[in-house]
Amino acid sequence: LILQMFFLSLLILCDDTTLAKSLGQSSFPSNFLFGTASSAYQFEGAYLSDGKGLNNWDVFSHKPGNIIDGSNGDLAVDHYHRYMEDIELMGSLGVNSYRFSISWARILPEGRFGEVNLAGIDFYNKLINVLLLKGIQPFVTLNHFDIPQELEDRFGGWLSPESQEEFLHFADTCFKSFGDRVKYWATFNEPNLQVTSGYRSGIYPPARCSSPFGNCNDGDSEKEPFVAAHNIILSHAAAVDIFRSKYQKKQGGIIGIVLYAAWFEPISNSTADKSAAERAQSFLTNWILDPIIFGRYPSEMDDILGSNLPEFSNKDKDKLKSGLDFIGINHYTSYYVQDCISSKCEPGPGISKTEGLYQKSSQRNGVPIGEYTDLDWINVYPQGLEKTITYIKERYNNTPMFITENGYGEVYNPNSTIEDSLHDVRRVNYIAGYLDALSVARRKGADVRGYFTWSLLDNFEWIFGYTIRFGLHHVDHATLKRTPKLSASWYKQFITKRKVVT
Ligand code: NOJ
Repeated sequence: LILQMFFLSLLILCDDTTLAKSLGQSSFPSNFLFGTASSAYQFEGAYLSDGKGLNNWDVFSHKPGNIIDGSNGDLAVDHYHRYMEDIELMGSLGVNSYRFSISWARILPEGRFGEVNLAGIDFYNKLINVLLLKGIQPFVTLNHFDIPQELEDRFGGWLSPESQEEFLHFADTCFKSFGDRVKYWATFNEPNLQVTSGYRSGIYPPARCSSPFGNCNDGDSEKEPFVAAHNIILSHAAAVDIFRSKYQKKQGGIIGIVLYAAWFEPISNSTADKSAAERAQSFLTNWILDPIIFGRYPSEMDDILGSNLPEFSNKDKDKLKSGLDFIGINHYTSYYVQDCISSKCEPGPGISKTEGLYQKSSQRNGVPIGEYTDLDWINVYPQGLEKTITYIKERYNNTPMFITENGYGEVYNPNSTIEDSLHDVRRVNYIAGYLDALSVARRKGADVRGYFTWSLLDNFEWIFGYTIRFGLHHVDHATLKRTPKLSASWYKQFITKRKVVT
């Protein structure tokens, strides 16, 4: 008992020190959004309830070998039935916003030629209404990776321009049904990651790639990610266009898109490595943002991809003028980048040959860019967030930004005790460090208006199933019981005790 008390006081001490340290420097305005983020497939479960249709992730996760622990999102964390309890948890955190996505197949099981599923509309109405009653602003993503399987089967999903019509209909249905109460809309979550995972490495549905790898095949890895992204960019434009013309003036609200954004640090001061880092940025974030904001792809992509990069027609360019109101940034990690044109290096995995004129790595001469974590794709380097924000601020003329995701994932050890999971000191330190970096970026003039940590609960982490956990609350997947971790109480304290500036 004495040992336990000692351990606990050490933890509390660490919690307080971290809080004091980050409170010392950070200040946020009173209307700044603090929240947690989630997505429909990773949270809702209820995969065939109340008229929902099958989506691409239902089908993909049911195929043996696709998810490493053989699990799927059929039940996930059963948010569909437990949303009241989950909103209570948000209430205890003191957050003023909740980022979630809408399951397309729950609203339009058969796409635009089928009926709207009213039970689906009803679920989101209840969720939105209860959130608002608790003073929590809904921040809604329309597409977070899941699309009705029907669209994949009928015309090949994002590879076909028909996807644009379908997305427009889905977006319109959501604006019409929920736009009187939802004031923050994101069209897509991480389309940049979605298309490279679905059409290059093939680790997400529709699992297409050039050379058979795992369960993927049949694709053209050098071309298809760019075709899919092109249709997604035009789908975004179509949705924003209808939002502006039919809804925004009447109902208010703002609309943007959410991207996966890592920081790429040149491995040396050489011009070659600096432009390699710039190329890496272009092939990750500018790829999607430049067309939406400037009406064209980044010049690096044009130069390297040639005819593999689709072109925007004049009509498309007109549509793209609808732009966006904010940029959503999902930031977790940073890399060093080395040029592979002037020096001999092989592009790393996941980078296509055409764009692969650089190599990214998490260390330089054996020294990591930031502290390593359980996950090889997360290094703790908070300045990377500040640098990412500053880069986006400068490139896009300080368009309003939200940090729509940032969080700390741990590999779940089935032999660990629940206490181990609850004492998530490393998650506390991670979030504290990144909030600090965010406040520095804001002080230097970046127009960032909110921060969402991933995630409220441990949940279904795509191909990793339930083996990786990001939650501020532990979920026992056998009973679905939610228990706050140290990070939950820390986040609550941070939100209540932070310095408020105008
Ligand atoms: C980004 C994705 O949007 C989300 O779905 C995922 O769970 C987190 N990153 C963590 O990997």
